[in-house]
Amino acid sequence: MNKPRIAILGATGVVGREITKITNELGIEFEDIKFLSSARSAGSKITFKGKEYTVDEAVPEVFDGINIVMASAGSSTSQKFAPEIVKRGGVIIDNSSAFRMDKDVPLVIAGVNDEDLRLHKGIIANPNCSTSQLMLVLEPLKKFGIKRLIVSTYQAVSGAGLAAINELRDDTIANLEGKTFENKCFKKPISFNVIPQIDVFCENGYTKEEMKVVNETRKILHLDESTKISCTAVRVPVFNGHSEAVDIEFEKNISPDEVREILSNSFGVKVIDNPENYEYPTTRDASGVNPVFAGRIRKCLAFDNGISLWCVADNLRIGAALNTVRICKRVIEMGLY
Ligand SMILES: NC(=O)c1ccc[n+]([C@@H]2O[C@H](COP(=O)([O-])OP(=O)(O)OC[C@H]3O[C@@H](n4cnc5c(N)ncnc54)[C@H](OP(=O)(O)O)[C@@H]3O)[C@@H](O)[C@H]2O)c1
Repeated sequence: MNKPRIAILGATGVVGREITKITNELGIEFEDIKFLSSARSAGSKITFKGKEYTVDEAVPEVFDGINIVMASAGSSTSQKFAPEIVKRGGVIIDNSSAFRMDKDVPLVIAGVNDEDLRLHKGIIANPNCSTSQLMLVLEPLKKFGIKRLIVSTYQAVSGAGLAAINELRDDTIANLEGKTFENKCFKKPISFNVIPQIDVFCENGYTKEEMKVVNETRKILHLDESTKISCTAVRVPVFNGHSEAVDIEFEKNISPDEVREILSNSFGVKVIDNPENYEYPTTRDASGVNPVFAGRIRKCLAFDNGISLWCVADNLRIGAALNTVRICKRVIEMGLY
């Protein structure tokens, strides 16, 4: 098979920049690469592997002859361009939520459900960031039968894009200087605060972000309705790195030592778990690197056969860009373009 012709759609955004960096890190081989944005950033320059590229405006014709598009330009942009890409014979690996729950679209975490990639019809979806890190931890434990899952997330502002990163910085400075600040990205001030809302509220009282964790977890791990899942998603004043407190009830008995052993040998996971020496993962350990870190692994007091744990990951990497590029790599290796 010839090497693919690749495009990065949304290349000037927070996730797009990471995709560009990781495409180099993972040594993706390609015939040609294009960097695309809206008209706003078109004409700007990106240096990649020592060569300078001009960013092009995304219009349908730009996808002529492109085999694989890694997209992180928002739902409406993906909805607009995905049919154009597919019509031209290309495959889009999409970071937005536009197609995640579409039954014809595989929702994939590389290393967890790669075989689902074979079912694609031109569109492959990348899960929500808080779901992504959880999947790498849960998949190796799935054989013990997941009966019930309760997740509380502590999510960094980078998950809401560049404007949100700037808002945390500016609000923090304003607060320290005793100045007023008008928050725009978040419904409440984000500096020195914890906000129990990410995305809009649904009729059932959960937020859309929380329901993404519930629904996407089921789809990726092929769990049916008999597995009960609940999530509370919270925004915290951290620039980068999502944390999650996870309680799992299993069908079968499993000890904390077994969980440590299994996760220590699992793809994409690193265990740091020695609380006596204050060794457990924090967001600073995770930012800028690839593993999902797990720690604080203990017997859950609320459930029979229960395990509680803490996991932390770089949301821009495993929650978006790293998984996108890993999927791209698998699509190439499996000849699925
Ligand atoms: N941040 C995360 O942790 C995370 C995690 C998972 C998924 N995602 C998803 O990834 C996507 C991008 O997020 P982000 O945080 O990178 O946002 P961002 O920093 O705001 O970047 C958005 C990118 O999309 C481009 N874009 C916007 N409208 C466009 C259009 N009409 N046509 C072509 N390109 C357009 C922008 O180009 P300009 O420079 O020209 O504006 C920019 O390159 C979103 O769907 C988000 O939900 C983000």
